[in-house]
Amino acid sequence: MGFPTYRPRRMRVNEAARNLIRETALDAGDFIYPFFVCPGTGVRDEIPSMPGVFRMSIDQLEAEMKELLDLGIRYVMPFGIPEEKDEVGSGAYAEDGIVQQAVRAIKVATPDMYVICDVCLCEYTSHGHCGLLDEAGYVKNDETLELLAKVAVSQVRAGADMVAPSDMMDGRVAAIRAALDEAGFVNTPILAYSVKYASGYYGPFRDAADSAPAFGDRRAYQMDPANAEEALREAELDIEEGADLLMVKPALAYLDVLKEVRDTFGYPTVAYNVSGEYAMVKAAAANGWIDEKRVVLETLLSMKRAGACAILTYHAKDAARWLAEG
Ligand code: PBG
Ligand code: ZN
Repeated sequence: MGFPTYRPRRMRVNEAARNLIRETALDAGDFIYPFFVCPGTGVRDEIPSMPGVFRMSIDQLEAEMKELLDLGIRYVMPFGIPEEKDEVGSGAYAEDGIVQQAVRAIKVATPDMYVICDVCLCEYTSHGHCGLLDEAGYVKNDETLELLAKVAVSQVRAGADMVAPSDMMDGRVAAIRAALDEAGFVNTPILAYSVKYASGYYGPFRDAADSAPAFGDRRAYQMDPANAEEALREAELDIEEGADLLMVKPALAYLDVLKEVRDTFGYPTVAYNVSGEYAMVKAAAANGWIDEKRVVLETLLSMKRAGACAILTYHAKDAARWLAEG
């Protein structure tokens, strides 16, 4: 005869008790929905490697924002696909740039929508890199900072509620903070993409935004996937420079890093469930190989469990619908 065990057994924990002891939960209010804005009117083109995600012209945004708000999604991040690109990414900081126009339109149509703008040059440069380049093709860090500050100020002038530098130049958070303060936007928070790996998972995004580097890669300024301690150093620098929130990107292959960053600094930490993570799930689901609803909710929950306070995800609309269904 064995000894009786008094450990709680899973069998005894019924549905109601499961809810009582559950440690993490997903909510539509956790999601930030990234989307792509392009020139033109009446445009709603599905991105081939991202089924369910569209390049939309500005006239489409009102209906889109209302749909999101109805689903309980209150945070968005617009990415711009400019009419023209040039060496210095001038479309990124133009007064009437595509993102600036989109933000104004969103704020007119749905003032309650909270708009977070990605600050980078790569969607706007002809070479597809995140900064200015010298003759040898290397990124000029300090010269780029000035432009990034202009990008952020122009976005906030257009109505953005928060800015999120994703370029990975050194010193960008301090440069953007100083420029925002000087322009009078002392209360606009900065969400720093502090920990951004040089990743294969950005492939579908670069198709969508036509922003793949024309030569070379981003390894000079994005992080080596082998490094976790470096992530802590990057996050610490951004905090010192004035970041209000931190981001880890991609999310799924870096949940250990997300947890470490969150546990070390106790700062609000956002996970970016990137385009390649989305594409993998969509492809497998389209083939009937996985149960999409189950896998998406499980994946997003894992990011919350690892410590994310919010998740940037292209699954936001589907997930919000599924959560509402219960
Ligand atoms: C701009 C930026 C990128 C993503 C977010 N901001 C592209 C990149 O770094 O290549 C990718 C997001 C995704 O894959 O969903 N720097
Ligand atoms: Zn970039």
